[in-house]
Amino acid sequence: MEQATSVVELRQYVQHWKDHHESIAFVPTMGNLHTGHLSLIEKGQSLCDRTICSIFVNPMQFGANEDFNHYPRTLAQDIKYLESIGCDLVYLPTASELYPLGLEHISQVIVTDLCENYEGAHRPGHFTGVATIVLKLFNIVKPNISVFGKKDFQQYRVISKMVEDLDLDVEIIGAETARESSGLATSSRNQYLDDEQKTLAALIYQTLQDSAAKIQGGERDYPALEMQAIKTLNSAGFDTDYYTVCHAETLEPATQQDMKLVILVTSGLGKTRLLDNIEIDLWH
Ligand code: PAF
Repeated sequence: MEQATSVVELRQYVQHWKDHHESIAFVPTMGNLHTGHLSLIEKGQSLCDRTICSIFVNPMQFGANEDFNHYPRTLAQDIKYLESIGCDLVYLPTASELYPLGLEHISQVIVTDLCENYEGAHRPGHFTGVATIVLKLFNIVKPNISVFGKKDFQQYRVISKMVEDLDLDVEIIGAETARESSGLATSSRNQYLDDEQKTLAALIYQTLQDSAAKIQGGERDYPALEMQAIKTLNSAGFDTDYYTVCHAETLEPATQQDMKLVILVTSGLGKTRLLDNIEIDLWH
């Protein structure tokens, strides 16, 4: 696997591949890779000739009260994983090259309408930090496609809308969430759960599936359904931030006329906030 740390170096590899008419898939990450990330890279490999993964813990998307310094950094292990699945290149940018004047002086990408609620309400400025770094990485890598996990559904929608709104020449692919056999969505945060919490955590996806089945069966009283689901989770020991049936594109609370839905949930278990979602297509 090739490695690049500077923009110049990275662009040389990309140019070489483009000269040979090879298509490029790009998977941006913050490292601490697990099977969920690897499934994004495999998706890229199935669609393009070359796959590039970036690892960069982006300071701009962390709030003042969030621990950027303690974000898990496991570079040696990450590189082993990437090599084991045949990723072509890992890009390891430096903060000094991406933010040469410091974070206060960088232009910001604000994706309208999608960033204020849910994770955006909990983490003000977070999605501006995400959109800004992703746009920079797209401009550096110039990939044909870029793969994002639908586990972070709001992030996937924010990036898709940025690409639509700003006419970026890259196709965004949403990859299905990798799950453990219990249904628990794969996440770096699962490592903070003890065995008992891990077993309990499967209730989140079970509750989502139960709500989806009710909606497919004709239930349209979404506020009542949300209240019921929150009660199920909280009485089992969760502390639910939100559980909302939304329009799958605008992420506005769903109306009875909406046909493509997503239920977004974030629920705390002990000190860990777990995110998950389920898509529902009422056309099918
Ligand atoms: O999902 C992530 O790991 C990050 O938000 C991303 C997309 C790599 C941007 O830093």
